[in-house]
Amino acid sequence: MGWKEYYEGHKMSAAEAVGRIENGSHVVLAHCVGEPPALIGAMVENADSYEGVVIHHMVRIGPVDYATPGLERHFRIEPWFSGANARAAIAEGRGDFAPVFFHEVPILIRAGRLGCDVCLVSVSPPDGSGYVSTGVSVDYTHQAIRTARYVVAQVNPRMPRTMGGSFLHVTDIDAFVEAESELPEIAPPKITEVESAIGEHCADLIDDGSTLQLGIGAIPDAVMLFLKNKKDLGIHSEMIADGTLELYNSGVINNSMKSENKGRMTVTFLMGTRALYDFAHDNPAVEVRPVDYVNHPITVSRQHKMVCINSAMQVDLMGQVNAEAIGFRQFSGVGGQVDFVRGAAMADGGKSVIAMPSVTVKKDGVTISKIVPLLDTGAPVTTSRCDVDYVVTEYGIAEMKGKSLRQRAKNLIQIAHPGSRDELKDEFEKRFNEKL
Ligand code: COA
Repeated sequence: MGWKEYYEGHKMSAAEAVGRIENGSHVVLAHCVGEPPALIGAMVENADSYEGVVIHHMVRIGPVDYATPGLERHFRIEPWFSGANARAAIAEGRGDFAPVFFHEVPILIRAGRLGCDVCLVSVSPPDGSGYVSTGVSVDYTHQAIRTARYVVAQVNPRMPRTMGGSFLHVTDIDAFVEAESELPEIAPPKITEVESAIGEHCADLIDDGSTLQLGIGAIPDAVMLFLKNKKDLGIHSEMIADGTLELYNSGVINNSMKSENKGRMTVTFLMGTRALYDFAHDNPAVEVRPVDYVNHPITVSRQHKMVCINSAMQVDLMGQVNAEAIGFRQFSGVGGQVDFVRGAAMADGGKSVIAMPSVTVKKDGVTISKIVPLLDTGAPVTTSRCDVDYVVTEYGIAEMKGKSLRQRAKNLIQIAHPGSRDELKDEFEKRFNEKL
């Protein structure tokens, strides 16, 4: 049978496709912007026919409506990243968070240690040879497709076809549901004076010829504002967002000095606006590859002058970083933070930066220092004190690697918010018997 006959023979409605999901299945959803809304919507509508279906994903942009109260008998969530939509379900017991390094997700799926019976993905329509592209999301999605017993794809003409490792043959997929839907778009954030100052300090740590990993959000975008006069930068990053495009189009990012994948930006997923998705479409300058390659610390370590910039909830006076929880409340996940921190540490001339505002202001007006004597009770150590390298706030740069606990604490107090410094100095005096 030719691929066209295979494709036509396996086309069906969303209801029919998700109706084949068996009770007790572990269902893996494609990551982030790669999620298939038509399939997820149909699965939720069909809730009454399921019992004990467990749903896994990393970042989920759409609503986690399978975890609304009342559906507990039908669905449970076990995500590897607790985005805004999954937080309440986890906190209220309708799901459990599973901590995992991003680069290990496909490795653990392959080993059968993360459940994956069914995979729901979005793909581009097949090309003339019967290949579809998962476009914005290769990450763990490709491994889930290979491992799952039952794979359903939403065929979406809005999905870009990307280079790197995003292609699959139609025969790798069991059911096709044609449904056009715009990909989720994440608008570039507003950059305040605080983030601007942080961006400027981070840019001071980036030499010409560096290869960068930057996440999404105001801080990475602010860093990019201060890179306009740099030369020969490269991208080897978990993801890119729209902020990267301007630097690429102006030639600051040309990937010419990368040690591996020279001349191309290497990522494992894309998350931004339509401008980014259109840019990546059929563009050999952007390689979207599996996360167990891109984020693997050994891959990262092969880029000389690798600089990674990530953020945090809190840093304690020893340099321990909590990047994912507010006390016991899981806010996000480790994502690729430690993958890149460790990779950069092994890279020739590599650096890792934890960049964050010195305080956070809660909705009720309470100001909380993010540099703290001790991490909150219940909060995990995301990046350990031996892994942490530089910490940056709007007040400057604190170097950690090679520094004693006493020196680390001094460096951190210098970049804490002036309103928090007295309390931190009191703690310093108690701990080190020295007055600052
Ligand atoms: N104590 C209490 N609340 C805190 C806090 C603290 N120390 N620090 C932040 N918060 C609250 C903020 O007030 C804000 O609350 P709100 O949602 O009610 O407004 C919320 O946490 C988010 O803070 P914000 O500063 O906007 O965070 P962010 O969007 O810049 O994300 C991380 C920061 C750490 C959550 C995020 O970078 C992350 O998830 N990191 C881990 C994964 C990672 O590094 N991946 C890397 C590759 S992309």
